[in-house]
Amino acid sequence: MKELTLTKTKQTDKDKRHQENLKSAGEIPVHIAIIMDGNGRWAKSKGSIRLHGHKVGVDSVRDITESCAQLGVKYLTLYAFSTENWGRPSTEVRGLMKLLVSSLRKEVDNLNKNDIRLTTIGQMDRFPKDCQTELQEAVELTKDNERLELCLALSYSGRWDITEAVKKIARHVNEGRLDPELINDQMIGDHLSTADIPDPDLIIRTSGEYRISNFLLWQLAYSELYITKTYWPDFRRDELYEAIRSYQQRDRRFGKLSPQKDENSISSRLLNKKS
Ligand code: FPP
Repeated sequence: MKELTLTKTKQTDKDKRHQENLKSAGEIPVHIAIIMDGNGRWAKSKGSIRLHGHKVGVDSVRDITESCAQLGVKYLTLYAFSTENWGRPSTEVRGLMKLLVSSLRKEVDNLNKNDIRLTTIGQMDRFPKDCQTELQEAVELTKDNERLELCLALSYSGRWDITEAVKKIARHVNEGRLDPELINDQMIGDHLSTADIPDPDLIIRTSGEYRISNFLLWQLAYSELYITKTYWPDFRRDELYEAIRSYQQRDRRFGKLSPQKDENSISSRLLNKKS
């Protein structure tokens, strides 16, 4: 296994212990999705401009990506730019694009060293050409890495994703290749931009808002939610561990009964006792 060196500082023994404790305490989520929110408010609280919040937010991206890889999380999906974000002032949009390009340029070697594969979901063709090229290069250069998939949702919205899936399926019907009666949730999932990755186990939202904000609408059906008041630039690994600890205490039933409440299993245990 390659040594992780994404952050400039060496991993402390205390952090290693925290991670070991977390791993032995329960299941580590396979897929974590994050709505990174509060960069602007964080910057305002420091008397700074919004872009400063986004810049410090990149440090959080690095720290969370590194700790997810170390913990054995297999997929990390970050809501980096929503379809709705195009409605922000053009200076902020341009600033975010520049930040994305410069961050990718700086981080791609580290992603490779650390065996992290970069992927994207969303309407990449809406991005400026230089940004698209930088993203494509980073995706290509990291495509064989296996430790963690870091998926950036860019110009993404859940409704866009579902609409595109519906269009693809409708084309199959239109061409006479698909009986509409055969359409099921598995088929819809297979036509979403996330078809190759499992649904998120845990979704984290920073900055205290209780909304999904058009993120992975279909995919989040049974994800566990963790909402924290912390603004994204302050969200670092210790709070990620909190979120995972909270996840480990959840009773995931996927709409069914938990084994101890399942009447069948209770009666079967009673029957076993009698016999
Ligand atoms: C939400 O805060 C954050 C964003 C819209 C952008 C997130 C982007 C980054 C952290 C940088 C991208 C970097 C990489 C490499 C993925 P907000 O601006 O909505 O904050 P507010 O709600 O307080 O105004």
